[in-house]
Amino acid sequence: MTNTLLILPGDGIGPEVMAEVHRIIDWYGTKRDLKFDVTEDLVGGAAYDAHGKPLSDATMAKAQEVDAVLLGAVGGPQYDKLDFSLKPERGLLRLRKEMDLFANLRPAQCFDALADFSSLKRDVVSGLDIMIVRELTSGIYFGEPRGIIEEGGQRVGLNTQRYTEAEIDRVARSAFELARKRGNKVCSMEKANVMESGILWREVVQKVHDESYPDVELSHMYADAGGMQLCRWPKQFDVILTDNLFGDLLSDVAAMLTGSLGMLPSASLGAPMENGRPKAMYEPVHGSAPDIAGQGKANPIACILSFAMALRYSFDEGAEATRLEKAVEKVLADGVRTADLMGAEGGTPVSTSRMGDAILAALDASL
Ligand code: IPM
Ligand code: MG
Repeated sequence: MTNTLLILPGDGIGPEVMAEVHRIIDWYGTKRDLKFDVTEDLVGGAAYDAHGKPLSDATMAKAQEVDAVLLGAVGGPQYDKLDFSLKPERGLLRLRKEMDLFANLRPAQCFDALADFSSLKRDVVSGLDIMIVRELTSGIYFGEPRGIIEEGGQRVGLNTQRYTEAEIDRVARSAFELARKRGNKVCSMEKANVMESGILWREVVQKVHDESYPDVELSHMYADAGGMQLCRWPKQFDVILTDNLFGDLLSDVAAMLTGSLGMLPSASLGAPMENGRPKAMYEPVHGSAPDIAGQGKANPIACILSFAMALRYSFDEGAEATRLEKAVEKVLADGVRTADLMGAEGGTPVSTSRMGDAILAALDASL
């Protein structure tokens, strides 16, 4: 089976971090005989500049055909004034929606070498390894009706939180399946105390559990309390299952626990395609960081670890994914740091491509 990849570097630091991923992909081709058929295209502001849209139909069609999409980042201040429908973020949301990537996996792992970067105490975060499973194609992000309407002589901003049983059911299954391969625990978060969608969420998750995954430990928490518990004692969690908006918030909180947003990858998975592989897109959790774009300062690790997730979830190369993750760990343990990872002790940060060099060297050493 060929391995097809569509790479969408996007905006800001996207292209420079993706350049390092290209080198890793080449390494796998030459050193592990693991070949990828790679196409590259535009998304976000870059696509808007070229086509007047944040994602062209041709790019969308390509994304539907490949085994995996790798996305860098989208957005930048020069696009802030664009009409809502043309903003860079709409390109990303269109990919998620049209590929039906309902399960967004956001690991928050604390690398031991970085435990002191967290705003929390070392013993609270060291060894932390949690996985947030965020529903990604429904809820208030996409619910209708929406808009800014006129009512009683004033404007009203309107969005709708909406979940069907089937939407909750399928993402719950993803969370339980993952939990079985990890710590076998799921904590589901919603606001069943104030929202009907939360009541239904809780009921359906419990039903899926009781019928199909009774062996997995399940608990429920209100999402606000969940945020508090994440800061208090995050190691109580294994898999956190939550909706689109709460997942957006809670995954940023969880990300920061680990010390740097520049370290965290994500996978967005949909239903299996004909070849048995899931529809999939991989992207770093961080944004386009326009303030440092083009300066070679960005940390490529989140994007590189996103490719590791692609190896694991799309290409069934779990051992190679682990090899890459271990290479990153080794480089961090050796003290190689990009600017975002410079702590109080100071030192000289390395550039984006030097970080890439170090990871490639660690990969070589792993052979
Ligand atoms: C994320 C981002 C996106 C979201 C934005 C860029 C649309 O914050 O992936 O977490 O809100 O989902
Ligand atoms: Mg977010």
